[in-house]
Amino acid sequence: RNNEAEIRIGFSQAMMADEWRQSMNNAMEVQASLYPNVTLSIANANYNVQQQIAQLKDFITDSVDIIIVSPIQSKPITPIVEEAMNAGIPILVVDRKTDNQKYTAYVGADNIEVGRNAGKIIVSNVQDSLRVIEIRGLAGSSPAEERSLGFHQILDKFPKIKFAGTIEGDWEEESITERLRELLSRTGTVDYIFAHNDRMAKGAWEVARNLGMEGQIKIIGVDGLNGPNGGIQLVKDGVLNATILYPTGGAEAIKIALKILNAEVVPTNNILSTTVIDQFNADIMQNQFSKINEQQGLIESQISAIKRQEQLYYSQNNILKIIIIF
Ligand code: FRU
Repeated sequence: RNNEAEIRIGFSQAMMADEWRQSMNNAMEVQASLYPNVTLSIANANYNVQQQIAQLKDFITDSVDIIIVSPIQSKPITPIVEEAMNAGIPILVVDRKTDNQKYTAYVGADNIEVGRNAGKIIVSNVQDSLRVIEIRGLAGSSPAEERSLGFHQILDKFPKIKFAGTIEGDWEEESITERLRELLSRTGTVDYIFAHNDRMAKGAWEVARNLGMEGQIKIIGVDGLNGPNGGIQLVKDGVLNATILYPTGGAEAIKIALKILNAEVVPTNNILSTTVIDQFNADIMQNQFSKINEQQGLIESQISAIKRQEQLYYSQNNILKIIIIF
């Protein structure tokens, strides 16, 4: 085992403050720990595009074996991804895309489908006219553009559905609170709000509650994380009408990265599946995810048990050597 060549993976993560990113990182670390010859270094770009570019430059200079990146925004990160390719370093793009297909592979869910799924919930409930607000993720980041595109593909065919407004958020709750309060106070209540993620959706619910409108507005989010603050719980609590599952792809990213390094044939686009989580399946989803977590926990403790055994073995071996020497 010690003879196996070391594999260095450099990952530039867009930011790390939220649970979705933390769960992605965690899944990557667990997956990477299954291979003793793999070192995964995760760099936090902390919403700073210049910092992300610098991190990618460092990975190129260090000649890591493969780079993984989740670009904060598409356009500014595109040239540096191309630079990695030109330097002969394979690069795997996760969750958010760059502007072209000049990368080794991409892994993530189809964000156009995510937006369409949200739109379908609304059109399946349209009787008379409906008023809708869309709350967008950070402009220039591909999931925001694609979720919006898919959402409009469905809704724009229905003249009975009217947009009361669109709010430019940045994925975080604080970015939308004031503007939504202002919009709802001006236009009056609406039937649906589609927020591009559950954090902003939760923020929208708080604004609605403060205005006494929470019973009237159905709020749809995206992510559907498990856990006490996650979207699945928000659906169960009736805060959200639904959330569209957006898997992080952390484990898949490591698996794909290793396949690439192993010179296996890997599809350029690796699309993770998404689905609607609503009051009818929230319980099932929560149970399924909790089981997966339990099993992951088990794997983690088995891995650390193996590592402890190895250490014990090596130290006993060393003692043995010392005894022999004397
Ligand atoms: C996490 C996040 C998610 C969203 C994704 C889009 O940082 O904001 O909530 O679905 O990024 O890239």
